[in-house]
Amino acid sequence: MLGFPCFVWLLAVTFSLVPRAQHLPPQDFDEEEEDEKPRLSDVLCDYDHCRHLQVPCKELQRAGLTACLCPGLSSPAEPPAPPRLGEVHVVAEDGSAVVHWCAPSSPVHEYWLLLWEGSGAPQKSPAFNSTVRRAELKGLKPGGAYVICVVAANAAGISSVPWANDAGPEGADMPPFGPCGRVAVPPRPRSLVHAAVGVGTALALLSCGALVWHFCLRQRCGCPRRARRATPPAAGL
Ligand SMILES: *[C@@H]1O[C@H](CO)[C@@H](O)[C@H](O)[C@H]1NC(C)=O
Repeated sequence: MLGFPCFVWLLAVTFSLVPRAQHLPPQDFDEEEEDEKPRLSDVLCDYDHCRHLQVPCKELQRAGLTACLCPGLSSPAEPPAPPRLGEVHVVAEDGSAVVHWCAPSSPVHEYWLLLWEGSGAPQKSPAFNSTVRRAELKGLKPGGAYVICVVAANAAGISSVPWANDAGPEGADMPPFGPCGRVAVPPRPRSLVHAAVGVGTALALLSCGALVWHFCLRQRCGCPRRARRATPPAAGL
């Protein structure tokens, strides 16, 4: 007879499960929470690839008390992808420009800027460390037109610019969100003042000329009238 042992076994199983079942839901809950704590896989690190003096995300992870996620990076065995040139703020008065950029999704050791004035070889800025996202260029000429590129470098090489190194940027395509951009420096405000003074002087001379011309004409036309008006008292005398 198999029925009876089976029944007893079923009873035993049921009774042993009931107390456990009462505890199960909270147990399950605790276990899930404990499981999630070490993972914390959905918290992003406080990392902004455009922020000036941004500590590399890997270092944030190392220094952080809680785990966080970093954006994926390309292999350190490859040269970095090009950074993205951001806002370029030109100060015409002192011939300078503040250049902003954003880091690529690659390991970067340092950055530098290249500056072309027309064709020919570019000027190269000093290198900036990997936290830097902003630099000042000096010595720009008023009224000048320039091309600026940001270059990132790591142990494997340097990021590319949109044209071959010996061909200048002249006529080259400069896609938005790329590492390069054109910058026009407005003419010096002082020369604008000169221009304004020049225009003002010209206007003043013109009005003087008009006045002189007007009075000459009036004198020529008015002389006989004045002479006629002057004659009656003379005649009366
Ligand atoms: C990177 O350069 C900036 C600006 O020159 C400087 O303030 C910062 O301390 C440097 N950081 C490192 C890690 O060298």
